[in-house]
Amino acid sequence: MFRASHISSVQSSIASAAVAWFSKHGRDLPWRATRDPYRIWVSEIMLQQTQVATVIPYYDRFLERFPDVKSLAEAPEDEVFRYWAGLGYYRRARQLHSAAKTIIERHAGKFPKDIASMLSLPGIGRYTASAILSFAYDLNHGIVEANTQRLYARLLYWKEPLQTTKSQNALWEFAEGLVPDKGKGSGQINQAVMEIGSQICTPNQPQCDRCPLVPFCPTSAKGHFDRVPAPKPPKLITELREAALFIKKEGRWLMRRCQVGERWAGLWDFPRFDITGRESESGLRRFLADAVLDRFQQSIEVEECVHSLKHAVTRYRITLDCYDAKIQKQRKAKTADADHEGDIQWCDLERMEELALSSSGKRVLRWLKKRTQSANE
Ligand code: ADE
Repeated sequence: MFRASHISSVQSSIASAAVAWFSKHGRDLPWRATRDPYRIWVSEIMLQQTQVATVIPYYDRFLERFPDVKSLAEAPEDEVFRYWAGLGYYRRARQLHSAAKTIIERHAGKFPKDIASMLSLPGIGRYTASAILSFAYDLNHGIVEANTQRLYARLLYWKEPLQTTKSQNALWEFAEGLVPDKGKGSGQINQAVMEIGSQICTPNQPQCDRCPLVPFCPTSAKGHFDRVPAPKPPKLITELREAALFIKKEGRWLMRRCQVGERWAGLWDFPRFDITGRESESGLRRFLADAVLDRFQQSIEVEECVHSLKHAVTRYRITLDCYDAKIQKQRKAKTADADHEGDIQWCDLERMEELALSSSGKRVLRWLKKRTQSANE
């Protein structure tokens, strides 16, 4: 499907030099000690937006609890989230879980070996599919991800921005040309170029003196690291302000599960609302009380802002203000129409500890615990 028809002799020399270097200098990472496609898949999904050192303990714990596709497919989503909590970007966990179910249902529990079936699984794109197929089965697929694309761009002296279709096509063609047509050794070649990309061919000060690919690299010869690849346009950060509410009744607080389509879908959180741009405090309290009435059919009075923290999610920088709130009329808390049965709970602190919370939700909980403890002392 995506195969280049030949491998040039330069690419073949690059692949050999990369593998020779990797066999001496490659890091010993847990997912490199296995050919099990399930384990490789889990590692690749965890590594998508998270650094190697952070991933390792999560990877070990996750695989101890979910050692194969079946155990993952059969687990409740909440439990999968708990093992993911701290890695962030929970969408990855939801897709991993959902893909595990599909593998059980459609592929009799066996990891598919063809790229088209892999690409039809949620959360698996061309890079992840190619990585799994080459690492686990030594199939002839090249890989392009952030580190390898920088390396390839420098080897190709590719000056155009990397995000364009033309650039991506050229990079994939180069990647496919690095692996032999019959596949043998593809996994090692791909691991090797990825390692050189991440450990040596770094964005700002690549260590060319250690790089086995220097003889093939025009960018190194010219010293044009600042130009190749072309610098990315700066990411636009959006500032948001949100309010989390401590709605308390008889020693318990109201918690809700975030819904599909929301940030952190499936995870639990304090009732939280976007209050960006709302300047007037009294207007803000009315707004929050109305929002709670709409969503939970609870009449509340919003009191003081008792805590504030900052956190970042993707391109958003969020100031989260936490408000105490008092129930005015006792009613059973209901969910809004969009929410499902069981997506609302009154929780004491112990129960909250058991819920899969977002990382900012966890920070709020830690603060609430401290505050409650010092009030009880
Ligand atoms: N980043 C993404 N996949 C990786 C892998 N297999 N090894 C190291 N870093 C990675």
